[in-house]
Amino acid sequence: MTIDPTSFPSDFIWGAATASYQIEGATHDDGRGESVWDRFCVTPGKVRGGDTGDVACDFYHRYRDDVKLMRELGLDAFRFSIAWPRILPAGRCGVVNESGLDFYDRLVDELLANEIEPFATLFHWDTPQVLEDEGGWPERATAEAFAEYAEAVAARLGDRVRYWITHNEPWVHAWIGYAWGEHAPGRTSEADAVAAAHHLLLSHGWAVDAIRRAAPDARVGITLNLAHAYPASDTPEDEAAAWQVDGEGNRWFLDPIFRGAYPADLLERNELVAPFVRDGDLGAISAPLDFLGVNNYFRFLVSAGAEGPRMEGNPEAQHTDMGWEVYPDGLHRLLVRVANDYAPQAIYVTENGAAFADVRVHDGSVHDPERISYLSSYIDAVSRAVADGAPVKGYFVWSMLDNFEWAMGYSKRFGIVYVDYPTLERVPKDSFYWYRDLIASRRGMPRPSPIAAA
Ligand code: FCB
Repeated sequence: MTIDPTSFPSDFIWGAATASYQIEGATHDDGRGESVWDRFCVTPGKVRGGDTGDVACDFYHRYRDDVKLMRELGLDAFRFSIAWPRILPAGRCGVVNESGLDFYDRLVDELLANEIEPFATLFHWDTPQVLEDEGGWPERATAEAFAEYAEAVAARLGDRVRYWITHNEPWVHAWIGYAWGEHAPGRTSEADAVAAAHHLLLSHGWAVDAIRRAAPDARVGITLNLAHAYPASDTPEDEAAAWQVDGEGNRWFLDPIFRGAYPADLLERNELVAPFVRDGDLGAISAPLDFLGVNNYFRFLVSAGAEGPRMEGNPEAQHTDMGWEVYPDGLHRLLVRVANDYAPQAIYVTENGAAFADVRVHDGSVHDPERISYLSSYIDAVSRAVADGAPVKGYFVWSMLDNFEWAMGYSKRFGIVYVDYPTLERVPKDSFYWYRDLIASRRGMPRPSPIAAA
């Protein structure tokens, strides 16, 4: 599939995304405190192969070379996250670790010197362990600490970072971390997950306020993991099951953020009649945003089972190395639906990509035709959403580098750059050159006129 570059506006942002714990390594350097992921990784049986983020891609020491690669790629923007325990090793203000801030200061300057726009995410799951020891995200105090952290970071970087993302995928952190126990902190309580989700949202609202105070021109958003829920058939039962899945995964976060209320059907099922939702919380959560970040990898195909909604597989489809179905129309549907139902000012696809079992061949190169095909079909889906009026302003491939894929350790490779972990050598894959050519092909193009676009 060839993508027509004129189907994107000429100011469309082409980016690549990463997260602190997945790439930085240097977990003991320059006063960084312990994060819940450091603790989880050394808990036996939690992470495949006993892998940890101690070294990861060593981005902390190699970021200059990696920014050079980004420049070669022609990236407009780089999405990274800031490690809270580097900035506030004790979780809260009081002790601000300036050398932690210095690292992001240097990174931001390096990006800007290379004409790459920094997109900074404040939280990509690496909570300071001290806060988890005091109860973690199910406690309101953690949301309060997050607002202090947001303020400290925005005060230092707000003069140069224009795009801020408060949280990455609060659903994943709340459910997989607190209810399913498969991510840090590894708890297995539904009630904790529900409380954590509320406090993540609340802290998002407070952080929006803190960032705007420190950096009045900042553009602020949040990144959600969203997936369109398709009913497996058009029976009312399957449709109701798909709506329920949509509620639990998508509307649980979209509604409070854009409508200032939790969805009525979730409230009816009593999932949210909870003492931790206080007066004024929903007002804070629904602070106006400049953009919504959407992470999308797959869709849901849902049928009505005896014990509630059931996820169906699609044996006909191609699947990635994560076992995720390749279904680009799901991204198109999702973007159009979010635009229609919630009218965000702008949408950035802040993550999309695929893991495949990449190998280096005899000459050392890495051929990844499946990833090229995945990316081109999903980027094509984005262009169709743009044509249908969704205000999508940018796309970030996950990921710039192969990295620590959470509970799967280093066994899953999502990068467009291969990382040889024993030597930490970087090897751009074929998809890197494919993405470079796509980005280059639209440079200097005039913005399509409305007539040409119609
Ligand atoms: C998302 C995460 C990201 C990465 C991709 C594959 O859920 O935000 O860190 O692990 O999945």
